[in-house]
Amino acid sequence: MSILVTGGAGYIGSHTCLELLNAGYEIVVIDNLSNGKLEAMNRVSELAKTDFKFYKIDLLNKKALETVFSENNIEAVIHFAGLKSVNESIETPLHYYHNNITGTLVLCQTMREYGVKKMVFSSSANVYGIPENVPVTEDAPLKPTNPYGRTKLMVEEILRDLYVSDNNWSVALLRYFNPIGAHESGRIGEDPNDIPNNLIPYINQVAIGKRDKLNVFGKDYDTHDGTGVRDYIHVVDLAKGHLKALEKVISTTGVDTFNLGTGVGYSVLDVIKNYENTTSQKIPYIFTHRRMGDIDKCYAETTKANKKLGWKATKSLEDMCLDAWRWQKNNPNGYAK
Ligand code: NAD
Ligand code: UFG
Repeated sequence: MSILVTGGAGYIGSHTCLELLNAGYEIVVIDNLSNGKLEAMNRVSELAKTDFKFYKIDLLNKKALETVFSENNIEAVIHFAGLKSVNESIETPLHYYHNNITGTLVLCQTMREYGVKKMVFSSSANVYGIPENVPVTEDAPLKPTNPYGRTKLMVEEILRDLYVSDNNWSVALLRYFNPIGAHESGRIGEDPNDIPNNLIPYINQVAIGKRDKLNVFGKDYDTHDGTGVRDYIHVVDLAKGHLKALEKVISTTGVDTFNLGTGVGYSVLDVIKNYENTTSQKIPYIFTHRRMGDIDKCYAETTKANKKLGWKATKSLEDMCLDAWRWQKNNPNGYAK
């Protein structure tokens, strides 16, 4: 039996593939490589010292997806494939709704046809919108403020409806907070295609000399130092959370939601300071205006995942910064040669 990983050539997917292989799972990966990299798959194979099947296909291509299900004995699906830029989703909402929602519908239809009813889904803390309280619990109001977040919430609801219609489904909805860092080998990591939107990829490019300074978006937030506070989680901790969620969906039925974060919030200035101290790289920065749509603070209440999945993030912000820098230093151009 195999685990199908959609979007496995991407950032979180590649780290999860490695953890799955290391734990002895057989995996089959599909990705259209719109943002993922084939080289990431080669390196996962190299690190795990084992091979796995990779199909370069689009989720929207039902025929191709059917081939994957007919050629493999799929037990469960970990569904990462999706577009993830908040800004891009505001500019091209139809593209986001089509890819993230229709893609998931095609996947679920195909799963149902092949009798596969177990799924771990990549949702996002973005579904909470502007949290009324922190730490955010799973039962907090869901009010995403952009099309990207709405695609995540809509898919969550579709999966809940699916379970109501057929109680044999088993689904874990994982709401990630801010995944950063890289595998400690420095062989796989985050490789943004364009100018990075997210904090750590941008800091990495300042550290390697590709950009001269970081723009810190806003210094008048309601936080301990005025800069935005987030719950950064090491991508390997996050990947391990998927294995726990997978064990749960395989052994039960139902739909359950879990925050995957550390429960600790750090500000932008905390991250810069920590990065500088752990890597000995100077990160010049200036304060600029707030980025549209940004919030003061968001961090997770993680008790539910601790108790029900038996999972807890273990890596520190130092580990995250060191591993992010090692990846950047060893791969100045990401996966490109
Ligand atoms: P990523 O872009 O690195 O990985 C997503 C992968 O999906 C890419 O390899 C891309 O090529 C593939 N893909 C996209 N649409 C596809 C399609 N129609 N058919 C086949 N493949 C397709 O992103 P990531 O950071 O690894 O995120 C993985 C998932 O987690 C996404 O669903 C994302 O929305 C979600 N998420 C990410 C973050 C984050 O900060 N990275 C936070 C919360 C949630
Ligand atoms: N920031 C800067 N300068 C930058 C980039 C970011 O100051 O160049 C600040 C932001 O203002 C924010 C913090 O760094 O205060 C973190 O920003 P990110 O862009 O790294 O992360 P976000 O919390 O804004 O968003 C991320 C993902 C979303 C996801 C959300 C919750 O990009 O897709 O986490 O999971 F929904």
